[in-house]
Amino acid sequence: MIDKAIIDQWSSYKSKTKTPFYYYDVDLLKQTVATAKNEADKRGYILHYALKANANPNLLKIIFGAGFGADCVSGNEIFRSLQNGAKQETIAFAGVGKSDLDIQIGLYNNIFVFNCESIPEIENINYLARLKGLKIYNIGLRINPDVDAKTHEYISTGKKENKFGISAWDFDKVIEKLETMKYLRLTSLHFHIGSQITDMNVFVELCQRVNSFNQWFKDRGFELEHINVGGGLGVDYQTPDKNLIPDFATYFSVFEQNLKLFPGQKLHFEPGRSIVAQCGSLITRVLYIKEGKTKNFVIVDAGMTDLIRPALYHAHHHIENLSSDAPEKVYDVVGPICESSDCFAKDVLLPETKRGNFIALRSAGAYGEVMASQYNLRELPHAVFSDKLGSVK
Ligand code: LLP
Repeated sequence: MIDKAIIDQWSSYKSKTKTPFYYYDVDLLKQTVATAKNEADKRGYILHYALKANANPNLLKIIFGAGFGADCVSGNEIFRSLQNGAKQETIAFAGVGKSDLDIQIGLYNNIFVFNCESIPEIENINYLARLKGLKIYNIGLRINPDVDAKTHEYISTGKKENKFGISAWDFDKVIEKLETMKYLRLTSLHFHIGSQITDMNVFVELCQRVNSFNQWFKDRGFELEHINVGGGLGVDYQTPDKNLIPDFATYFSVFEQNLKLFPGQKLHFEPGRSIVAQCGSLITRVLYIKEGKTKNFVIVDAGMTDLIRPALYHAHHHIENLSSDAPEKVYDVVGPICESSDCFAKDVLLPETKRGNFIALRSAGAYGEVMASQYNLRELPHAVFSDKLGSVK
């Protein structure tokens, strides 16, 4: 929630606060983290925060401080998580194309598990582990369960036509290969079918698939200690203030009711978006109002370089004018980049908007700051934290 006092504080910083910037509501993050952890602890579930959603050190310290493990997809994410309080034995390492250097960073840091996505990758990790010597490393198999996540095609990862994971028809070859991999031990099965999933039936279907894969491996003599079902829980982008904290209780209870673990098996999750999306807003200032024949444009100083989700996925972010409560008008809200896709929203109702007004793009804490680029040689957006407003430069 962006409260009025904070808007007043920004206004007083107006001359010295550069826009655009990401504003993080630290209290909301703490509440979200505590809710997720509490609901998981009640059921004995283990959480690995997916750094790819937001790797800002100030947020990571809160998340890891609350006892989350880490889900990383690069050597740099492994370093970033370790620097900000994650414990090495909690780091899961995913990714369809891990480089040799990335793998070595994982090996030298004795991470929890490498989640492997192909036979050549398994061979390479075994080869690099042999060079390092001294130890047997844990691997998981990322399985492509062929489940439709019913989300945007670019963030759907669990269908057989997606590049991710190992498909059922390759299992025989994989287990044959594992017999010759002397430096690796299979300890888990890993799944991640997509992101921004709001239909709980999708997770029910995932559980059913996981049950049958888990049985398949048990029948062949594998004693797997861990099942990891990835991330994916969606957030309310339309009306964020109504659902600031995602419904973790319902989400986890779907798994509690539908997933059959064998005795001793632990269930792991890798939430990203659901932890950080709602605590972040992109704050931008209005540069110009351009009145056209059929459209009125609000041209803001943030662009697709700062928040690419609308341009890339047609994602909706709720937009608020923080400086005006005049009667509403219809606008397209656009950025300054030389691309027609640099548009945050079409035909939205906003209070009459003027140059200099502050605009908030809500629910931008996940896949916002971390996906920013310097296209057009723009500067990267900076971050402002609700508990450190006094130190805004
Ligand atoms: N685990 C794995 C293996 C993943 O690939 C992902 C996300 C997650 C966990 C975290 O999923 P979440 O809980 O955040 O849904 N840039 C896109 C989202 C890409 C997600 C990629 N994988 C967006 O802005 O919507």
